[in-house]
Amino acid sequence: MNGGFVGVIGAGIMGSGIAQVVAQAQRSVLLVDRSPELVERAIVAIRERLARRVAQDRMTSQEMESTMANIRPATRLDELKGSPLMVEAVYEDPQVKLQLLRELQPFCSKDAIVASNTSAIPISLLSSAVAYPQRFVGMHFFNPVPVMKLVEVIKSISTRDETVEEIVSFSLAIGKTPVVVSDSPGFVSNRLLVPMINEAVFALSEGIASSEDIDTVMKLGANNPMGPLELADLIGLDTCLHVMEALHSGLGEDKYRPAPMLRRMVESGLLGRKTNQGFYEYGNSG
Ligand code: 3HC
Repeated sequence: MNGGFVGVIGAGIMGSGIAQVVAQAQRSVLLVDRSPELVERAIVAIRERLARRVAQDRMTSQEMESTMANIRPATRLDELKGSPLMVEAVYEDPQVKLQLLRELQPFCSKDAIVASNTSAIPISLLSSAVAYPQRFVGMHFFNPVPVMKLVEVIKSISTRDETVEEIVSFSLAIGKTPVVVSDSPGFVSNRLLVPMINEAVFALSEGIASSEDIDTVMKLGANNPMGPLELADLIGLDTCLHVMEALHSGLGEDKYRPAPMLRRMVESGLLGRKTNQGFYEYGNSG
């Protein structure tokens, strides 16, 4: 897995961040999305983020250009043929991910590793769609990917130890700190984090405090860099709802029920920064 290009499938916020960190580690990346506009937008966003680093003297223009040269855009899955590692970061919906993984199979050799960047969908469920489940693993990145140091590496019942070891080495090589966990709804991170966000939504809907005050309590009282409602807007309210639904159905406990207000906001299309409105309003640059 040391040579060859890394495939990143899905050019949304997570896919673009993953492509950036891989390219910054001087590995070639093929960034694939069916929508050429999304791939283009992701590449523009990466260039803008790197340009800010150059402006702050934290990267040279040469380093920026060599990073950008490591990223190739693509719109077809067959272009991934020959990649030793493909990371999917498509929309967080089991059917969407399963369908993508099925379509990917003709282009995966038996030695290639396929990794899923999922927030809460069981890796074992997703592995039912791949030809070589022993080479399938969860690789859970955090938003904003270029900043957040953790990669949660999720091992399903079929994932081989060598696969996990290779992903741990790769995560270290791209400057991340991997933590290996077993497959369980929400893994560790989202089992802890998203119920806190959900509880904040309950507190808001019960009129206990305003959004601003709830966030201030957690920023100043618990030293969280962002309050839970600001964080929900960053993650995306739809993703938060998917995580709560996965915890509720997967663990079967009422304490994981999604807050009705969260569901209503998602139904109304208030998804946070990506739609410029969630618990807060954002300008167009969100
Ligand atoms: N995308 C890319 N980079 C971003 C960014 C974004 N949306 N927002 C901020 N950054 C970068 C900035 O460019 C800057 O980078 P630099 O140091 O290289 O210049 C760095 O982050 C710090 O930015 P700022 O100084 O502007 O802002 P802050 O100091 O306020 O930090 C923050 C911003 C890093 C977002 C911080 O508030 C934070 O850590 N928040 C918590 C984020 C978090 O918990 N993320 C995990 C969410 S859970 C998840 O993703 C899992 C999923 O499955 C749900």
